[in-house]
Amino acid sequence: METPVIRGRALTKRFGDTLAVDSADLDVWPGEIVSILGTSGCGKTTLLRLIAGFESPTSGSVHILGTEMSGASGLVPPNRRGIGMVVQEYALFPHMTVERNIAFGLQDLDGRERVERVDEVLDLVRLAGFESRYPYELSGGQQQRVALARTLAPNPAAVLLDEPFSNLDSTMRQRLRTEVEEILRARRTAAIFVTHDREEAFAMADRVGVMVDGRLLQIGAPDQIYHFPATSEIARLTGTCDFVSGTARPDGGAETPLGVLQCAASEPLTPGQAVSLMVHPDDLELVADKRGQGTVVSREFRGDEVILKVLLDSGESVRSRRRSFSKLPAGSKVKVIPVKTIPFAVYPR
Ligand SMILES: Nc1ncnc2c1ncn2[C@@H]1O[C@H](COP(=O)(O)OP(=O)(O)OP(=O)(O)O)[C@@H](O)[C@H]1O
Ligand SMILES: [Mg+2]
Repeated sequence: METPVIRGRALTKRFGDTLAVDSADLDVWPGEIVSILGTSGCGKTTLLRLIAGFESPTSGSVHILGTEMSGASGLVPPNRRGIGMVVQEYALFPHMTVERNIAFGLQDLDGRERVERVDEVLDLVRLAGFESRYPYELSGGQQQRVALARTLAPNPAAVLLDEPFSNLDSTMRQRLRTEVEEILRARRTAAIFVTHDREEAFAMADRVGVMVDGRLLQIGAPDQIYHFPATSEIARLTGTCDFVSGTARPDGGAETPLGVLQCAASEPLTPGQAVSLMVHPDDLELVADKRGQGTVVSREFRGDEVILKVLLDSGESVRSRRRSFSKLPAGSKVKVIPVKTIPFAVYPR
């Protein structure tokens, strides 16, 4: 049995009345990237700081590669955990050059090894030649790449990334996200990546953990989390979604205003039970049809797509993602056709 790089058990952190992290269980396996998705204040940074050792847990434990770091046996300081952390801002020492920033964590190496390691990680983040620049002479994206290089330089067992791209524009974010993922994958470095951006969470990770009010509510593969969120609250956090009412049938489907839909329920449904089905905008096709069951009420043009909101005759509304050039102006009567080929997540109503 492989040893997890990071294992948190019943990790709990209380600040006065605030339960910042509430009984979190988390394993990160060798080479794995886990992202933690949650809204502001839900406890993401605190969770990382508990793992890195900047906070001591109120209760619970942290193991790194099988060795207890926080728990009954006390607290191992951050610099002896073999873990690196990249934070959102002020990551670099402003009065030190890039080279000295990176060499900072390499006191154990002799002079030549240190220079070699600095060169290696600067190459990795594609900033060779920037050794003698100061942080203020770098763009935000370059600064975060140096911060990443500094974190990777001591060859940590795992890196913790706390919204490292949140100060950058969206093009830069996407580019860096891909770069960072490639670097982590190439080195098989395990990582936890914290973000409140679901696209970022999904795109980077092998598994996504959803955090609400200090609790890690669900953790799983990105498509599993997206299609089968355990609760409607998680559904709203992890995707753009609407809910339509339905009545469970004996065959595992449900009668809904969109017709009979196949359901995936976490608890078995009883026939006749009132349920609520989650639909994503990409689950629904629209065709102009005077006798259709809905009317387009608004259009949100997003450039690469347009989101149409449709009011169903049942009084419920759903959204449909269309190509940017699709017509169907507001007021169009439409037929709404579910096109999803896997079951719809369903919740008791
Ligand atoms: N040192 C502290 N003292 C008191 N309360 C704290 C402390 N650090 C965090 N908290 C509280 O714990 C909760 C979780 O904070 P945390 O910083 O972990 O959230 P977060 O998910 O990282 O939020 P954000 O996305 O805004 O960074 C918040 O209610 C916060 O106010
Ligand atoms: Mg935070």
